[in-house]
Amino acid sequence: MIIDGKKIAQEVRDSLKEKIAKLGFTPGLAIVLIGHNEASEIYVRNKLKACEEIGINGMLYRFEGTEDETEIIACLKKLNATSSIHGIIIQSPVPAKYNEEYLNSFISPEHDVDGFGIYNMGMLASNRESLIAATPSGIMKLLEHENISVQGKHVVVVGRSKIVGRPLALALLNKDATVTIAHSQTKNLPEITKTADILIVAIGVPKFITAEYIKEGAVVIDVGTNRDSNNHLCGDVDFENVLNKVSYITKVPGGVGPMTIAMLLNNVYESAKKGAK
Ligand SMILES: NC(=O)c1ccc[n+]([C@@H]2O[C@H](COP(=O)([O-])OP(=O)(O)OC[C@H]3O[C@@H](n4cnc5c(N)ncnc54)[C@H](OP(=O)(O)O)[C@@H]3O)[C@@H](O)[C@H]2O)c1
Repeated sequence: MIIDGKKIAQEVRDSLKEKIAKLGFTPGLAIVLIGHNEASEIYVRNKLKACEEIGINGMLYRFEGTEDETEIIACLKKLNATSSIHGIIIQSPVPAKYNEEYLNSFISPEHDVDGFGIYNMGMLASNRESLIAATPSGIMKLLEHENISVQGKHVVVVGRSKIVGRPLALALLNKDATVTIAHSQTKNLPEITKTADILIVAIGVPKFITAEYIKEGAVVIDVGTNRDSNNHLCGDVDFENVLNKVSYITKVPGGVGPMTIAMLLNNVYESAKKGAK
């Protein structure tokens, strides 16, 4: 069965729109965009549009990429202290002259709706309530929506990035999954992935995972967003090659991708709700 991420993301957004309307005020998301990266311009435009559709006030704070780091930090500090702003994100990647992690550290934990900060990551690692990064929480939502329990299952996460693999593995562990994290230094990868009840792949290598990596009847979640040799969007999983072997699978596009923005918006809502208390 193909998991329809687009449909599930729309359901999340519709429900958020209703919940936001009941808040009695408009949540605010500040998006800090530094430099002129073509892909980032598109992502930011999509985020702003998504905000508008569900009643969040999305605000763009643009920097040329020529400014001194202190200028951007001053802006982040001001945003933290602005009562109408409930979430702050810095669009990644930032130009090489800046240290992205350092800049992110100036976003207060309450405003860290990307969930990339040390505080929220630490809370997640301690199995305490936190703002969880949008892609991992989107994947958890997809599984939950399809009634795929992770409890006691062997889940193999391929990829250990700070934005996907790592927080995802922790979120799965917090839901009682037995988690294996694999990465580029892992030996005998197919032997490990073949033991997965649920295989989640976030490596950024087009169509890397083929049928030989998968156990019959496994659930496969493909996070990869790549271009194949014909410049078509594709995942890290060779979809056609594995389709007959899996019980559930996500497609690229239309799988994990749409969930990411929906869950970012959800974090803004959660943060606004908390701030209002
Ligand atoms: N759909 C969405 O919303 C969404 C969101 C975020 C990312 N993505 C996509 O997901 C993919 C991964 O993104 P990312 O930011 O996590 O990437 P990343 O920071 O480049 O991390 C890639 C991870 O994969 C591992 N890896 C690379 N090649 C491997 C191989 N051949 N075998 C096993 N492990 C391998 C790396 O191992 P090492 O740690 O050893 O280097 C690393 O941990 C990309 O295609 C990205 O575009 C999609």
